[in-house]
Amino acid sequence: MKKKSIAVFISGRGSNFRAIYEEIERGNINGEIVALISDNPDAQGLRYGKEKGIEGRVFQWTRGEPRDRFFQGIMDYLDQRGVDLIVLAGFMLVLSKNIIERYRNRIVNIHPALLPSFPGEEAQRQAFEYGVKYSGCTVHFVDEGVDTGPIIQQRVVPVRDDDNTETLAARILVQEHQLFPEVVRLFCEDKLEIVGRRVLVKK
Ligand code: GRF
Repeated sequence: MKKKSIAVFISGRGSNFRAIYEEIERGNINGEIVALISDNPDAQGLRYGKEKGIEGRVFQWTRGEPRDRFFQGIMDYLDQRGVDLIVLAGFMLVLSKNIIERYRNRIVNIHPALLPSFPGEEAQRQAFEYGVKYSGCTVHFVDEGVDTGPIIQQRVVPVRDDDNTETLAARILVQEHQLFPEVVRLFCEDKLEIVGRRVLVKK
């Protein structure tokens, strides 16, 4: 089976990007990262990419710029590379319709809560302050809503009495680093099947 070409979108730290990169390096994912995109020139993940020989490309959105046009610029860049899968690894901009349509069922995002609870920003804080006893992380396909696309896989993290937002977020992050590469691996082996809102893993 041909290797999948992966584009990773980041905005900051890039630890999920790193987890996926390392799993590719171990030979466990039938794919390669052909593009690293950041909307933030200071993203720490760009430095890690550079160390590994992956040249990042910054697309900075300026307030007032039509989002369709901004993402068209990114798509033109991706077209030169023939991308099969877009991985949103801590990418803070909401995607526009044109890129979602173009890459329908080929964009995956990680969210640090058990969707459909606590979508949007600061999910770990939302969950902690709500007082849930279990939170976790979700990898889902991206549709037009915010964190509403079909759920691919989730990991559960119990909330402890002595937790605070930061300690909970740290334990969720450990699970993210296992879950996200696993989903990318399944995608790259054509193992994910979407049936309505359900995503099944083919045998
Ligand atoms: C992660 O918690 C992810 O779930 C959320 O943004 C954070 C990104 O972290 N979408 P990193 O940049 O991968 O370290």
